[in-house]
Amino acid sequence: MQHLDDLIREAHRRIDTSTTLVALNDVRVHYLGRKGVLTEQLKSLGALPAAERAGAGQYINDAKRLVNEALDRRKQVLEQTELDAKLTAQALDITLPGRGHEPGGLHPVTRLLARVQALFERMGFRMETGPEIEDEFHNFDALNFKLDHPARAAMDTFYLRDWPLLLRTHTSPVQIRAMLAYGAPIRVIAPGRTFRHDSDVTHTPMFHQVEGLLVDEGVSMAHLRGTLSLFLQHFFERDDLQLRFRPSYFPFVEPGAEVDIRCIFCDGGGCRICKQGGWLEVLGCGLVHPNVLRACKINPERYTGWAFGLGVERLGMLRYGISDMRMNFENDIRFLQQFR
Ligand code: PHE
Repeated sequence: MQHLDDLIREAHRRIDTSTTLVALNDVRVHYLGRKGVLTEQLKSLGALPAAERAGAGQYINDAKRLVNEALDRRKQVLEQTELDAKLTAQALDITLPGRGHEPGGLHPVTRLLARVQALFERMGFRMETGPEIEDEFHNFDALNFKLDHPARAAMDTFYLRDWPLLLRTHTSPVQIRAMLAYGAPIRVIAPGRTFRHDSDVTHTPMFHQVEGLLVDEGVSMAHLRGTLSLFLQHFFERDDLQLRFRPSYFPFVEPGAEVDIRCIFCDGGGCRICKQGGWLEVLGCGLVHPNVLRACKINPERYTGWAFGLGVERLGMLRYGISDMRMNFENDIRFLQQFR
């Protein structure tokens, strides 16, 4: 029994000084394993006189239970220690400021297009689209461009290898497609990409236009002026916005005009943006040429109409103060971020 008490004391000491779960398990095997010290003690009971056996067996079993309990307690302590160490090592500092996800924004051209579309849709215009790869018929012939007229050459056209295909130089071919598809009366706007072989501060080879077309009985230049003036006042949020119609030439309208607005930067006093002139050019327009109506199988004796075409990036220069048109398409995040 004295021997057993020493064994137990020694077991407790080894349990309490084990610092890892692996070491602790070795201690468990040493005392309680199949060939463990205490297990062997039980096996040796047979050698004792019968009268002492029960008492000794009881004593050894109690010892085993105590050692077992001590092992479990120590195991819990070591497990907790290991968990704490792991948690400390993998700690997340939730008080650190986050890196954050900045919201994206719409591209300025998208915003401008949406704005123009919304204003015309409120006036009852339906949206039409046409192909960016056009043919000479829709881009030129049906629009009354004569074969040898300099206006055709002035368009800086990108021709495709497969004549008569080309990249449309304006959205006006959508006028033709819409009139051929729906006839008169008609009221549509056609936003979209256009292409010209040109690149500098105020030109990019790809740019956007919005075309407007209205054909009906009794339509006049006065309707055109009224509609454009309403549109431009809302677009620039100026109800005192002054317009100026300057005669101009486009083969598909007669008369044709370019529309200027009073410079919104200097109110006409003269500044860098309006080049001291006090006026800003915003679009081209006119009454649809009878030849164009005829090419679209509309009777010009009965119907008249007007059309306009505006440059979207041009409106962006004026509304957002974008000074270099090419910035629209360089995808510089510092530029784009300003339109969130
Ligand atoms: N298509 C012309 C251009 O791109 C603009 C325009 C459209 C002029 C409709 C008159 C009528 O320059």
